[in-house]
Amino acid sequence: MKAPPRLLEILPMKTEHISAVLHVESLCFPTPWPRNAFLNELTENKLAHYFVGRLGEEVVAYGGLWVILEDAHITTVAVVPEHQRKRFGEQLLIRLVDEAIERGARWITLEVRESNTAAQNLYKKYGFTVVSTRRGYYSDNDESALVMWAGNLKGSIYQNRLNALKESLC
Ligand SMILES: CC(C)(COP(=O)(O)OP(=O)(O)OC[C@H]1O[C@@H](n2cnc3c(N)ncnc32)[C@H](O)[C@@H]1OP(=O)(O)O)[C@@H](O)C(=O)NCCC(=O)NCCS
Repeated sequence: MKAPPRLLEILPMKTEHISAVLHVESLCFPTPWPRNAFLNELTENKLAHYFVGRLGEEVVAYGGLWVILEDAHITTVAVVPEHQRKRFGEQLLIRLVDEAIERGARWITLEVRESNTAAQNLYKKYGFTVVSTRRGYYSDNDESALVMWAGNLKGSIYQNRLNALKESLC
């Protein structure tokens, strides 16, 4: 039998986490967000909710979303390359989906690069489907974004799926 995955400690992101988050960001994305982008999200944007995933004191993952009434929008999810494929991305995504539900969202969306099959697979596992394409969305290489949605988050079909996935992590 496969060993259960190691569990991340998931905490609300604070300004003191930003340096560690920027390090992960630089390893994960071709056009990393600058410090100010995270600072604004944490201190100015009342709709934004960000989390870090830690192993001991080390920040190895993070993610964030906006919740606007019944709609949630995942803005970012990342796991440091040396700790990818350990189901930490899943744990972060579950935290984001739970946060969305707790704050009243029924629908959740995100954009993902057309070439990013790893992330697309993660989102599909959690019930997201592709609903449209935004051509040339990413300015660094003109790549298109797939727009993915999941919901109804409060419905029994989604809840059963989420609970089964959560159980598989315990
Ligand atoms: C996408 C990302 C967050 C996934 O995190 P992770 O911790 O490595 O993924 P997990 O171990 O939790 O995997 C969960 C599921 O994602 C999918 N997945 C993850 N990595 C994958 C890969 N390299 N290839 C194919 N599928 C993959 C699988 O469906 C997997 O489920 P399975 O193990 O049952 O097959 C991570 O690869 C990452 O940080 N990438 C760089 C940043 C990024 O692209 N973020 C998303 C922006 S939209």
